[in-house]
Amino acid sequence: MKCTPQSAENGTLLKFPERFLWGTATATTQIEGHINNEWTDFVARDGRTCRVACDSYHRYAEDIEWMGKLGVNAYRMGIEWSRLQSEAYGPLHQVELARYADQLDRLNAAGIVPMVVLHHFSNPPWVNSIGGWTNAKTIPAFVDFITKLVAALRGHVRFWNTFNEPDTYASCGYLIGEFPPLQKWRLDRFRAVVVNMAKAHEQVCRVIREAGSGLGKVEVGFSKNWTYFQPYDKSLPWDGLFAAFIHQQLNRFVLHSFAGARGQTASTFLGVNYYGRIRFKNLKPLVPTFGFSHQELMGLGVECDDMLERHPAGLEFALQELYQHCRLPIYLTEHGSSSADEAFRERDLKENLAALHRAISGGVDVRGFYYWSLLDNFEWQFGYSKKFGLLDVDFGDDRLPRKMKPLGHIYRKVCLENSIGH
Ligand code: FCB
Repeated sequence: MKCTPQSAENGTLLKFPERFLWGTATATTQIEGHINNEWTDFVARDGRTCRVACDSYHRYAEDIEWMGKLGVNAYRMGIEWSRLQSEAYGPLHQVELARYADQLDRLNAAGIVPMVVLHHFSNPPWVNSIGGWTNAKTIPAFVDFITKLVAALRGHVRFWNTFNEPDTYASCGYLIGEFPPLQKWRLDRFRAVVVNMAKAHEQVCRVIREAGSGLGKVEVGFSKNWTYFQPYDKSLPWDGLFAAFIHQQLNRFVLHSFAGARGQTASTFLGVNYYGRIRFKNLKPLVPTFGFSHQELMGLGVECDDMLERHPAGLEFALQELYQHCRLPIYLTEHGSSSADEAFRERDLKENLAALHRAISGGVDVRGFYYWSLLDNFEWQFGYSKKFGLLDVDFGDDRLPRKMKPLGHIYRKVCLENSIGH
């Protein structure tokens, strides 16, 4: 692995390993529109729905052209189960399958390596009607779907990402009531969802590895969100206990369910999504989405984007810890920030890439980075108010025009030069 800091005119130039993947990431429900899943009728805090979103269902070719302008060589995208299978063990919908195959072909032709996410916070209605992932019957149904999907698409893709953030999905749906089915403090269901997803993950890894890919060595893994949960004031025992409990459930329990207590798994890589941390003060999370103003938070020394606290230094340690646990190559399958302040976002990107570079220099085998997100999009319970895109989308205009943001130009330079000036 070659990863060297070099001197540059204005400071240090951090060079990344050869063949490093520089990508962006999206999710079906957040960008495609015209979807029939549990989010279709969900009204977000801004009063809006995902019914049209960025209309990428119709505009994927245009989105790929934008990726060309960004200079990325990788794209992490979802395939929506609810579009492809209308009943348990049913055949796959051929027209929808052909649309995804075309999307993958266009990416490959543009030199952009696709990574396909198989589950990103949504299920077909017939899965939700039996209790979703709380029901163990969902496991064989999912394995059936993936077996058919992989047989159909193995010539178009070689990177598969089974589950995106089972921790976020299960906690938002069953602990804090923010995602469908909007349940609160059902720790039993939270744990059942994680365990069932982990079992499905193992089976699906084997299916994918056995099927292989016509494009080269097949790769498969899930994506773990790594958020630090900490007390703001270490002398307050209840905040310490609360943070430790959440860390235990969302980080440890999920990691051990998916990757074994000693890292044994059928995955070939580990996906890591990293945004930062949440600190608790009197059991309240110090984040803007909990109602704290940026001013109040800054007064406490808590620097946030529009979602949570930034903690770039933590990325290096999270990667070291996860690598020690799993001993698998890592892809940083999401990092990004949401803010109207592009200078803030530039600093956030550079600080996090510097931390990533330190981890790689220290021996962690990280092979790619995917910026969240390509486009401003439907940010789940928050609707369209969180601006994570490298491209701006004007949701006030029915034509949903896309426009490069200043951060898009900066990211383009990183991708093309495989380095970052710091
Ligand atoms: C991650 C999700 C992604 C998006 C970003 C901001 O947790 O995987 O869909 O919501 O956060």
